[in-house]
Amino acid sequence: MNRTGPMRDAPAPFGAGLFHGPPIRHLLGLEGLARESLIELLDSATNYRERLRSPRWVSDELRGLTVCNAFFEDSTRTRVSFELAEQRLGAMHTTFTTAGSSVSKGETLLDTLRVLAAMHVDLVVLRHRSPGASSFLAHHLEVGVINAGDGEHEHPTQGLLDLMTLSEAWAGRFEGRRIAIVGDVAHSRVARSALFGLTTLGASVTICGPPTLIPAEIEALGAKVAATIEEAMHGADAVMALRLQRERMEGGLLPSLGEYSRVWGINPERVALMKPEAVVLHPGPMNRGVEIAPEVADGHSSVIFRQVENGVAVRCAVLTRCAAALAEAS
Ligand code: CP
Repeated sequence: MNRTGPMRDAPAPFGAGLFHGPPIRHLLGLEGLARESLIELLDSATNYRERLRSPRWVSDELRGLTVCNAFFEDSTRTRVSFELAEQRLGAMHTTFTTAGSSVSKGETLLDTLRVLAAMHVDLVVLRHRSPGASSFLAHHLEVGVINAGDGEHEHPTQGLLDLMTLSEAWAGRFEGRRIAIVGDVAHSRVARSALFGLTTLGASVTICGPPTLIPAEIEALGAKVAATIEEAMHGADAVMALRLQRERMEGGLLPSLGEYSRVWGINPERVALMKPEAVVLHPGPMNRGVEIAPEVADGHSSVIFRQVENGVAVRCAVLTRCAAALAEAS
């Protein structure tokens, strides 16, 4: 791609020709995403991570692309890492949050996003509390859509950064590996995206948590359900603690915090049940002392902050992938 000419306002199509898998104009979930596409995204993210480690590294790969990060729910990791990825890649970008917006005046999701599209946004990174919000947007508007978490449905870039972190810990081999996912699976978009990605790459997944928080259909999606955390973690290659969504305790779905921690918390004794080189993941934000003991979160098996680092690299890979598909379609 020749980007050295003087016509800076007429850039070459972003990323066109860089990818070989099927085009990904929208990233709405990991369910059904081909193994080839997953591997390509993970390889691309690994390359970005090396470049991102140089604080001065910036690129103009996405010059000419306009991205809006539309966050209708709170976020630290996902929002900031998309913003940093967009800056490093030279995209024009803006962030919309509901606080201070005209959503408080009753403007609908679709009208809000139509407003953004009318401002010539090419890609929307959307977080919303409603499952299917990203698909709805992709169906109704002529913009690329990246799902940054839609209710209890999926969080595909979180799933990809989890896969990337596990790939590193497992020397790139998913077959024959097993992970335990522990906690509030029923309400977890993180667990669903991880499950789809892991099973596509050949790993096996054991789920456990309070019976009220284990969805009936989880085994049909490819997971095994263990009765106890000890059974789930015994001999595992990794464990992922899910955030305890305290807001759901009011619905009577959970015992007290102390009881939850005693029965389902990841503590050093339970980590010792896994293989010696096994790793501990948590998507964040953590409730230290509830679903995960502080000494585990900060211990030698923890890859929690590596997950955060990998998040920026994954978002670079996804942004360039979607941008390339947009360029091919135009
Ligand atoms: N893991 C995750 O989505 O964190 P944030 O809600 O802070 O983005």
